[in-house]
Amino acid sequence: MFQKQVSLKPYNSFGMDVKAERFVSAENLEDLVSVLETNPSKLLVLGGGSNLLLTKDVKGLVVHINLKGIEICERNNETTLVKAAAGENWHDFVLWTLNQNLGGLENLALIPGNVGTAPVQNIGAYGVELKDSFVNCEALNLKTLEIETFSNADCKFDYRNSVFKSQYKGQYIITAVCFALTNSNHILKTSYGAIQSELKKNGVHNNPNIHDISKAVIGIRQSKLPDPKKLGNSGSFFKNPVVTKKIFKKLHNQFPDIPHYTVSENKLKIPAAWLIETAGFKGKTFGNYGVHKHQALVLVNYGGASGKDLLRLSKLIQKTIKTIFGIELESEVNVL
Ligand code: EPU
Repeated sequence: MFQKQVSLKPYNSFGMDVKAERFVSAENLEDLVSVLETNPSKLLVLGGGSNLLLTKDVKGLVVHINLKGIEICERNNETTLVKAAAGENWHDFVLWTLNQNLGGLENLALIPGNVGTAPVQNIGAYGVELKDSFVNCEALNLKTLEIETFSNADCKFDYRNSVFKSQYKGQYIITAVCFALTNSNHILKTSYGAIQSELKKNGVHNNPNIHDISKAVIGIRQSKLPDPKKLGNSGSFFKNPVVTKKIFKKLHNQFPDIPHYTVSENKLKIPAAWLIETAGFKGKTFGNYGVHKHQALVLVNYGGASGKDLLRLSKLIQKTIKTIFGIELESEVNVL
């Protein structure tokens, strides 16, 4: 069941060719539990590998979560509860829900990664976050090897954050996620500027449906974000920084066209992509890696770059942004 010295290149969207000392792919819960019963001292749990920068060979055991299956758990007049196993590809799952005419995930189409890793960082795009339709998830406690259920409130979802990334980091493996999706009367989110213009471009002027929205989202993402199957990347490399009104005012005086979104009474979010572009990094290449030409928040491996190269670039960007704007950019990607 275990393999030795396995290349992780197919298992991470940056396409980093590092080796796992030992590797196993868990196809079902029993396999997963029996692997963990061997008490591996060093363990890396790998989902879709789309939010991970591997900078060196991995010592110890890598467990690839390959649990599959989608089922309808409950259906009433308004909603359907759907449960998906952690190893299902996120976008394939979104397409499955759309095929069933279920609403709720259409804005989250084409996000790389798997169902089981989606709650960890509360994936979000175009005005919607996973937490908006998340009911609960089942997670394996790595100490007790028992399954526990986490409700939406238990997960303490926040912008690109949850308990699985903070207080319980490294303590659970999510094995399945349950969503509440609408059968009809879908709650459509079309206010994100790019969605409006993409719908118009597609000839949809009134009453878009969930299929129109997912098509628009797919169109926008394909035009701006590189396909990890063709060009190594992990989506947004940094989080969008949140600053106080006072700090924003100062920045605004110096950079009058700085884009911003209100988060709360005293907090504003600034697009990291704008900071990086303004600092002159957009489209810059450094040999076989660089900053994407259509989205400054995305770092890319043009082929053969190492994790260390990309880590160095990310640090250079962070240092430059700190010098110019006084803002600390926080990495969204896990660096190992
Ligand atoms: N912008 C630039 N330069 C660029 C790109 C964007 O200045 O190269 C500015 C523009 O002002 C634009 C604003 O940034 O209006 C926002 O850009 P965009 O709509 O592309 O979104 P983002 O803030 O860069 C976030 C998420 C994405 C998600 C999009 C759409 C984060 C860290 N990223 O990016 O998520 O797809 O919104 O909702 O919150 C991901 O997490 O991997 C990811 C791709």
